[in-house]
Amino acid sequence: MGEAANLSRRAVMAGVAGTAAAALAPVAQAAGKAPKPLPTGFLWGTATAAHQIEGNNINADLWLAENIKPTLFAEPSLDACDAYHRYEEDIALAAKLGFNAHRFGIEWARIEPEPGKFSEAELDHYLRVLEACHAHGLAPIVTYSHWTVPRWFAMRGGFEHADSSDLFARFAEKATAKLGPLIHAAATFNEANTARALQANPMFKTIAPFARAMFAACAKASGSDRFASVVFADLDKSEANQVLAHEKAFQAIKAGPGDFPVGITIALQAVQGVGEGNKAEAVAAQLVGPWMGAAAKGDFVGMQTYTRILIDKAGLVAAPKGAEMTAAGYEFYPEALGETIRYAAKATGKPIYVTENGIATEDDTRRVAYIDRALAEVRACINDGIDVRGYLHWSLLDNFEWVFGYKQRFGLVAVDRQTFRRTPKPSATYLGKRARANRL
Ligand code: BGC
Repeated sequence: MGEAANLSRRAVMAGVAGTAAAALAPVAQAAGKAPKPLPTGFLWGTATAAHQIEGNNINADLWLAENIKPTLFAEPSLDACDAYHRYEEDIALAAKLGFNAHRFGIEWARIEPEPGKFSEAELDHYLRVLEACHAHGLAPIVTYSHWTVPRWFAMRGGFEHADSSDLFARFAEKATAKLGPLIHAAATFNEANTARALQANPMFKTIAPFARAMFAACAKASGSDRFASVVFADLDKSEANQVLAHEKAFQAIKAGPGDFPVGITIALQAVQGVGEGNKAEAVAAQLVGPWMGAAAKGDFVGMQTYTRILIDKAGLVAAPKGAEMTAAGYEFYPEALGETIRYAAKATGKPIYVTENGIATEDDTRRVAYIDRALAEVRACINDGIDVRGYLHWSLLDNFEWVFGYKQRFGLVAVDRQTFRRTPKPSATYLGKRARANRL
């Protein structure tokens, strides 16, 4: 179990299991081109997720998984960053730093704690979060589902269940009815392709038995014969339902109230081919599956990129020898962002928002360097005429990094685990200044 918990999630996703990799020529982007003005209303902000920052998300499937035995989680989320109570302070801080947008998640497990029973008080909570964004001049970008689902939904089979799409769409409709008028942009699912990307990886075999044991224990504790999370679901049964859930939720959200762009966010690392006959193209297509097509029918694509993966003719290969690695166990490679923006723009023809991009590190100067190089990629894409409308850095706060617990720090702002005191790092000031100056 320990070994499984120690696997880097993205390394698992990336399957960095091979031996030495060939050195790849760096991707030089649009060097020497004159900068074009930024699109009007370019969004600068940070991205967060409900379960990772709010704390005490006790009706969620993963809360149970974190606290069951056996578990894949290094530690439980517990209070997280207590953002459920401290959202106003966080939003005020983001505004003070210089941002004009804020991505956060609404938690289905809070809003619908029992099937068909919606909590007006919890919807009011998210209404207050939206109001705080507006009061502080931040455009709110809302994620309807960021990997957690209500426990009752998981114990009836999650998205493996035939009627799951209707249930998700019903939640989307209820949430939009109250929150829609204040939303600036929304994504139905965060990284809708994560289950596929994770499970496509050869290393998934190593953690699958541990995950199965964990969810079997969750099922037993729930008095059910099943318990299906989003990311570990049986794709043959869940993926088509989840695509349908997106489509129905998309319609429900577009029906209003409110009139704002709706899309999906997609996890995609730059997939680079190594040597003749490499399978990079096929691997990239496999990692996104049906989701790029689904995104193409929406209003925008949210791209979420952290690193690159290298693919030769046999499959995945390790990062080049001597490459700088991040604290998440994969390569420091901010240039990946330009490649994935181009990939998504070409595949969908839709406007792109960078809805996540960031680095786990203990050395904040490396975060500044990462941001600097990633922003240069965004600039180069815009110079080439690609419609990029925003950059949302992952993440505002050091937070609960899923199975890895609190050890991997992606935040621009440090959070004291006892007092919840927020302390901006130099990278927060750096990115905030660039945001305020609207300077890519
Ligand atoms: C997810 C976040 C996660 C981040 C850093 C993204 O794939 O959406 O929830 O914390 O990566 O690993």
